Amino acid sequence: MATGVLGPERADIDKGTLRQDRWWISPAVTFVVFTAFVVYSTWRAFAGANYYASPYLSPFYSPCLSTHCVSGASDFGQPIGFLPAWFSPALVILIFPLGFRLTCYYYRKAYYRAFWLSPAACAVPEPHKKYTGERRFPLILQNVHRWFFYAAFLIALILTYDAVIAFRNPQHEWGHMGLGTLILLVNVVLIWLYTLSCHSCRHITGGRLRNFSKHPVRYRFWTFVSKLNGHHARFAWASLVSVAVADFYVYLLATGAITDVRFF
Ligand code: FES
Repeated sequence: MATGVLGPERADIDKGTLRQDRWWISPAVTFVVFTAFVVYSTWRAFAGANYYASPYLSPFYSPCLSTHCVSGASDFGQPIGFLPAWFSPALVILIFPLGFRLTCYYYRKAYYRAFWLSPAACAVPEPHKKYTGERRFPLILQNVHRWFFYAAFLIALILTYDAVIAFRNPQHEWGHMGLGTLILLVNVVLIWLYTLSCHSCRHITGGRLRNFSKHPVRYRFWTFVSKLNGHHARFAWASLVSVAVADFYVYLLATGAITDVRFF
């Protein structure tokens, strides 16, 4: 039996959709970019190599906590010693930013549309027979987003540290800057914009208050986060690209394919 906008309870229209615009472009672009990112990040996460080129550490591998991390990459120590050598250190840490993005309100909308066609766009029929939203397993697990936000906040702090120590030369002397420094810096700014514009962050700063007049500091934070929140989708895309670019630049340096461009 027909479902969705073609179901018996809807107007009897014999077309798939009455939309005349190119509604399919957005989900198609999302599908291509997300697929490319997943393929690239899976390859890099499982590689377990070429993620550190002094003083730059790839954001996919930061913090590098395994005893198998290469020398110089573990400023936060190597407390994880029980993993076999073939187990990439990225897999220990990537679960947090990955979980943060997978459960993100914006990404949910994007991949529900692009991959599950649920629906692909407003007023376009979907192939699914029934709709239960996010009330049942497994989608009810999307509610853990708030907890991933806390982890992502910590990781943003660590990536900030990585960007700061990138103002050194390969011999670890301060006051230097290369193209890698700039790339890590741009990346961490975009990561912060994405993290702070999160809907959970907005709720943390301004939620559960009866009135703002008694909480002027939280009101200021909430106002700031709300402004960022309006651009959340933009930050989600920009930071997705920047984190891949930052990793790829470190990869090229670590493999010796290029040498860092030094500004001073
Ligand atoms: Fe997108 Fe929280 S809603 S990161």
